[in-house]
Amino acid sequence: MTKQLGILLMLLLFFVGAFSQQKTIDQRVDSLLALMTIEEKVGQMNQYTSFWTVTGPAPAEGRQKKQYEQLRQGLIGSMLNVIGTENVRKVQEIAVNETRLGIPLIFGFDIIHGYKTLAPIPLAESCSWDLDLIEQSARMAATEASAAGINWTFAPMMDISRDARWGRVMEGAGEDPYYTAIVSLARIKGFQTQSLAANNTIAACAKHFAAYGFAEAGKEYNTVNIDPYTLHNVVFPPFEMAVKEGNVRTVMNSFNSLNGVPATGSHYLQREILKGKWNFDGFIVSDWGSVKQMVAHGYAEDDKQAVKIAATTGSDMDMESEGYVTYLADLVRKGEVSESVINDAARRILTVKFELGLMDDPFKYCDPTREEKLLYHKEHKKLAHEIAKKSIVLLKNERNLLPISSKQKKIAVIGDLAADDNSPLGSWRIGSDDHSAVPVLEGIKAYTKNYTYERGVALKNGKTDFLHHVKLNNTDTTGIGKALRLAKSSELVIVVVGEHGFMSGEGRARTDIGIPHLQLDMLKQIYEANSNVVLVLMNGRPLDLSWAEEHIPAILECWHLGTASGNAIADVLFGDYNPSGKLTMSFPRSVGQLPIYYNHYNTGKPFIPNTDIVFHSHYADQANTPLYPFGFGLSYTTYEYSDFQVALRDANKVKVSFEIKNTGKKAGEEVAQVYIRDIAASLVRPVQELKRFKKVALEAGASQKIEFTLTEKDLGFYNSKGLFVFEKGSFDIMIGANARDVQTKRITIK
Ligand code: BGC
Repeated sequence: MTKQLGILLMLLLFFVGAFSQQKTIDQRVDSLLALMTIEEKVGQMNQYTSFWTVTGPAPAEGRQKKQYEQLRQGLIGSMLNVIGTENVRKVQEIAVNETRLGIPLIFGFDIIHGYKTLAPIPLAESCSWDLDLIEQSARMAATEASAAGINWTFAPMMDISRDARWGRVMEGAGEDPYYTAIVSLARIKGFQTQSLAANNTIAACAKHFAAYGFAEAGKEYNTVNIDPYTLHNVVFPPFEMAVKEGNVRTVMNSFNSLNGVPATGSHYLQREILKGKWNFDGFIVSDWGSVKQMVAHGYAEDDKQAVKIAATTGSDMDMESEGYVTYLADLVRKGEVSESVINDAARRILTVKFELGLMDDPFKYCDPTREEKLLYHKEHKKLAHEIAKKSIVLLKNERNLLPISSKQKKIAVIGDLAADDNSPLGSWRIGSDDHSAVPVLEGIKAYTKNYTYERGVALKNGKTDFLHHVKLNNTDTTGIGKALRLAKSSELVIVVVGEHGFMSGEGRARTDIGIPHLQLDMLKQIYEANSNVVLVLMNGRPLDLSWAEEHIPAILECWHLGTASGNAIADVLFGDYNPSGKLTMSFPRSVGQLPIYYNHYNTGKPFIPNTDIVFHSHYADQANTPLYPFGFGLSYTTYEYSDFQVALRDANKVKVSFEIKNTGKKAGEEVAQVYIRDIAASLVRPVQELKRFKKVALEAGASQKIEFTLTEKDLGFYNSKGLFVFEKGSFDIMIGANARDVQTKRITIK
């Protein structure tokens, strides 16, 4: 037998094996379904929160007792927010040992940027442009969460974010659909890997389907009205990739209505697109209470009608509405909902339970020794540190104020956030422990003893948590005097300001996105006292940094970087790591510019620079451009792009090549970006669209040639009917270090 034949045979056996395994799952689901009553099928479609922690409005008094009764009757298919193997085991034992059929629960949890060990918030992490690290970060999260009994995460969030007022921009990968798609794919791979059956992998959840990021005026849960053309080209691509290439096992629908229909009751989104056009074979979970919320939307008369709509339009699992478990069996019995609807939903849910291996070993995620060994594992802390430093974005560095020499004398560190070990954890970290981040001060201490700290103004008043708004301290200015005296007597001042960790995330929309409260006043006064200021920012969304950009010589965007925050920030401050992060959301000049995004259309009266003629698309009082563009980030070295060439290859392929040289004195990493613009098409196309990027590491003086091939898939687009079209004609191809600073060449495909 030749070697090739041997390989072929092995491949064949592999595929037959995979197929028969799937067949067994299908057969086993069929056999189980045949035994189930209508109530038991509906039970699989019911998900409750635990009482250990909640991530939405707390369940009503008295629910706990009822919940345990329902659990024993097989009326619960899944729980979320159960903490730790001991509790998971306790609840799972009831499901397995006390219900008629012993079907195990699937345990969901919001593992958004880690379970115990926290990586940077997802928006920050996306600024690393390092897909391998992003995948490892999700792998780390899955390893810890699965060791704590969890088998399903409600992540990644892949909503496109164009409006920094929206608090949930921190959970995604920014404003670009192509980049969001591949970052989400890396995250799904990290959670699920190739084998969901392993005990250290968990099912992922693509959320929120769909268009939640387009909430009007950035206000949480608000209405969304967007055209089908935008839906197909901007909103859908990450989800389509997650389903088709990522084999994501679950999808969560969204709170918002889309063009008049709540997503949870949308036949179009769930049955036509997701389960129809894309053939999604996992299950859809509603968002927290979103089934019954259709009453408040004005789309259902009452809870019962909401249940009927949600189930028939394809929401397979009801998170926390208590709606399916109350009404659905009756609706099926009366013929108002077809039994095939609940058969299909239960089949999807059971299939994922089989795939996870829960049906064979319901306690496979409940090993306390593993839990003990893996949570906060030292390798995880190292990884979180590595990701954190790569997520930092250097926005400005005049007079080469950074990096700071460790011999630098008399450094002042000012700001409440510099000593904070909680805020840097960011929002959405319910599995982790409060106060477990390395504060900036501690990070700095590892590099120098020559610093003095003053808090300045206190950021907040009293206790804060995930469920409540942060109360800003807007009156107490007593700390400023001391801070100013310190600034005056120092050679260099590091000012750490920004948002408290719970000022972004769900329910945290803001109309003012400046540096909050008295911190900006303090920054201004410090700058008056000593202009050698390094501004270290902590925040969960793009902020309006106009004043700082105009005055402060060095600005470092440090987001909420998770567990290793302070170490990572100090590495960059003192030059141990040369910053390489680049923004994945445009930073506006003011809240009035929102929504702002680089891939907008040109309009018929595009911007004319340097003119006072009014008849063009612009603001009378402010530039059109963002303060910092998409893809922007500086380094302690410099890069030069040269030898840019585009060439047409057969089959409408465009070869793009260029060289990047590190022209500075330090080794570094650069994220080279390729954009296109379709010059004329049957529908207007964006002025720029990211199509490729590459992060390259270059020693000082070194250069590297980069080559990409763009195909019809990159040059085409979806029309309003959702059909993908490629149209010949002229295209601008752009290369550069960010969306603003590009070189352009035109190519025509005939
Ligand atoms: C959020 C979801 C989250 C769910 C469960 C909801 O409020 O919108 O993203 O997964 O709660 O915590």
